[in-house]
This record gives sequence, structure tokens and C-alpha cells, in this order.
Amino acid sequence: MAVRLAVRAANPRRVVRAVRRRFGRAAGEQDALPDNAVLDGGGDRTLKTDRVVLRPFSPRDLDRLASQMGRPGNEPSLPRWRGEEMLAKEIAVTYLTWVIWPLHDGEPLGIVGLSLLQIDGRPEHELGYRVFPPAAGRGLATEAASAVLRFAEEELGLRRTVSIVEPANAASIRMLEKLGLRHERDTDYGGVPVRLYACPSKDETCD
Ligand SMILES: CC(C)(COP(=O)(O)OP(=O)(O)OC[C@H]1O[C@@H](n2cnc3c(N)ncnc32)[C@H](O)[C@@H]1OP(=O)(O)O)[C@@H](O)C(=O)NCCC(=O)NCCS
Repeated sequence: MAVRLAVRAANPRRVVRAVRRRFGRAAGEQDALPDNAVLDGGGDRTLKTDRVVLRPFSPRDLDRLASQMGRPGNEPSLPRWRGEEMLAKEIAVTYLTWVIWPLHDGEPLGIVGLSLLQIDGRPEHELGYRVFPPAAGRGLATEAASAVLRFAEEELGLRRTVSIVEPANAASIRMLEKLGLRHERDTDYGGVPVRLYACPSKDETCD
């Protein structure tokens, strides 16, 4: 699949280079998107909510993102290189990634993005998100994801956006329910059992 970049390297520098290569190949990736995804029609892709601003990811952000990723909190603390590698992999599979920032100065709060995944043999636009421990539990992830869902529908013209989540990820499931997505079915992705959440129907918005 053209949108998906296989990043198998264990060395974080190679992963970063892979992310850079991926960002240099945006035009080719767009060929894999359906006609209704008008990536260049989105205008300024910076999105604002009441409490956060979402700015398009740049590889320059990776250092600051990785240092937030390694902070102790609701996930095991990771060595810095491991955090960077994990983030790079997440970012590499998305065709649009935003970094979540506070409205004013501060450290990045998380990432949110859209990927084109083959799920059960069908291309699906998948919403993905992560907030870092210092920002978790304040509703910011829900706020950011809601802005991206609106952008997907209104600016990209996507009629269907889904999210897959592991059944044990209670916070993520609650978040998807708050966003108005509904549990459509259980399946597996890459050999991992997941729940697939989707907007109620292609004619309804999630908001
Ligand atoms: C999933 C994630 C983005 C949620 O972030 P968050 O900042 O807690 O999200 P929000 O505060 O916007 O909303 C979380 C909701 O889940 C609830 N929640 C949190 N932990 C929960 C748990 N263990 N069980 C049930 N509900 C839980 C919160 O109470 C909140 O619901 P409420 O507003 O009704 O009280 C965050 O935990 C994360 O980044 N996890 C690691 C990456 C990840 O799992 N990404 C998703 C992959 S599918």
C-alpha cells in the first residue's frame, strides 16, 4: 500500500531518515487516496480548538515529542531512543499528522493524525491519537481528535472515518464514544484483535 511506509529499522536515526523520506514523497502518496480526499484543498491545515492548537507535524518536532514520550505517567517510561522510534513509526503510517500544542508557549501535548489502512481488505481512513502523560486526563485528546474528525469531513470530504482500538484500552474506547463513534465490529489488524469504531453512518457527522 503506497501510503504505508514500512519502518523496520531498530536504529532511531534510520527511523528519522525514513520519516523524512516519507515527507518528501507526499505527492506519490496522494495517488493512493480516494478521489474525495482533497489534500491540497485543505488550505491552512493548522487547527485550533478552545484549549489547543494543532500544527502539521514537521520532522523538526521529533526531538521535543520524543522527550515528552519518555516522561513517566500513564505509560511505562521509555528510554529516549525508544520513544523516538515508537513515535516515528506512528507518524510514518499517517498521511496527515498534527502535533497538539498548548494555545500559547509550551511543550507538545501529543499527536493526532489520519492514516489510510487496509482493514479487512478495505481501505479505511483511520483516526489515531496519543497524548503525553503530563497532558492526559484533561479532555485534550478528545478535543484535538474532534477537530481532526471535522477537518476530515469538511475539508477532505471524507464520508467515513474509523478508529481501531485494542479492547483493553478503556481510555481510548471511552474517548471514541465521547466523540460519537460507534462500535461497529471486532476484527484484527496485523494479527492483533481490535475493535473497530466508526461514525454512525456515512451521512451523519460524528459531532
Ligand atoms: C487514549 C488517550 C489518547 C486518552 O487520553 P486522555 O487525555 O485520557 O483523553 P480524554 O481526557 O480526552 O478522555 C478520556 C476519557 O476516558 C476516561 N478514562 C480514562 N482512563 C480510563 C480507564 N482506565 N477506564 C475507563 N475510562 C477511562 C476518562 O475519564 C475520560 O472520560 P470522561 O471525560 O467521561 O471522564 C491516552 O490515554 C493515550 O495517549 N494513550 C496512549 C496511546 C493510545 O492508546 N492511543 C490510542 C490508540 S487506539
